[in-house]
Amino acid sequence: MTSTNRYATSWESFWSTSTGAPGEIFWDADPSHAAQQDLALFRSSMDPQLQLIDLGCGNGTQTRFLADHFAKVIGTEISPAAVEIARTKHAAPNASYRVLDVLSPDDAQALHEETGDANVYMRAVLHQLSPADHVTAIQSIERLLGRRGVLYLVELSSAAEPFFAQLITQYGPPPGLARVFQHQITPGMVNENDLGVLFPSDRFTLLRTGPSHIQTVHTLPTGDVAKVPAFYAILRRRQS
Ligand SMILES: C[S@@+](CC[C@H](N)C(=O)[O-])C[C@H]1O[C@@H](n2cnc3c(N)ncnc32)[C@H](O)[C@@H]1O
Repeated sequence: MTSTNRYATSWESFWSTSTGAPGEIFWDADPSHAAQQDLALFRSSMDPQLQLIDLGCGNGTQTRFLADHFAKVIGTEISPAAVEIARTKHAAPNASYRVLDVLSPDDAQALHEETGDANVYMRAVLHQLSPADHVTAIQSIERLLGRRGVLYLVELSSAAEPFFAQLITQYGPPPGLARVFQHQITPGMVNENDLGVLFPSDRFTLLRTGPSHIQTVHTLPTGDVAKVPAFYAILRRRQS
């Protein structure tokens, strides 16, 4: 099985068996605790005339929120089941959803021919790919951005691994996370120290980066919601 098929199979299995029960999707935070905090960081860096692509949009929770703030938003996913959920549960007149494998730069190019240069929002997707696939994913992103688009990326940071280790030791594995592993999804790792290698300065300009967190739906015995340490980065293609 090619690595791309591995993602397609495991994520389709994950999304096609989701029931919509509260707490089931570990990262599916209310946008007021997710995309809204992101928007405050990236809004002023993006040309609002361009379309916004939510790459690896899952069930569209954050995409739907972003559609309130951009003229046109496209949520893209490897999983047709996720696209179907997004279309049903997170519809908006200016939001559309479609299947796109971020590991297919040719498909990204075809989308770019439709949309023109686009802004890209990407929350908690890159670390789901194995490190060997990062270069290809970034080629796709580059094609979607073109010369004028801006990428906002929010990803787990180097503090995430010790955070999960501590969480599991203290309270046991969160059910939402256990469900991910049940579908043979094996998250990789990416962190803030990889930015320069992933987005080399001869191709990309880093506009801003800093610490952040990924809000989850997992409530701890303390009553707090687990927030996974993360970092954000705002990048564009280098203008030569
Ligand atoms: C942790 S979830 C984040 C979903 C969404 N960005 C959010 O914040 O709610 C990762 C998503 O990446 C999608 N994904 C995994 N591999 C992909 C690929 N090769 N191309 C496109 N999407 C992919 C999965 O289906 C999943 O919905």
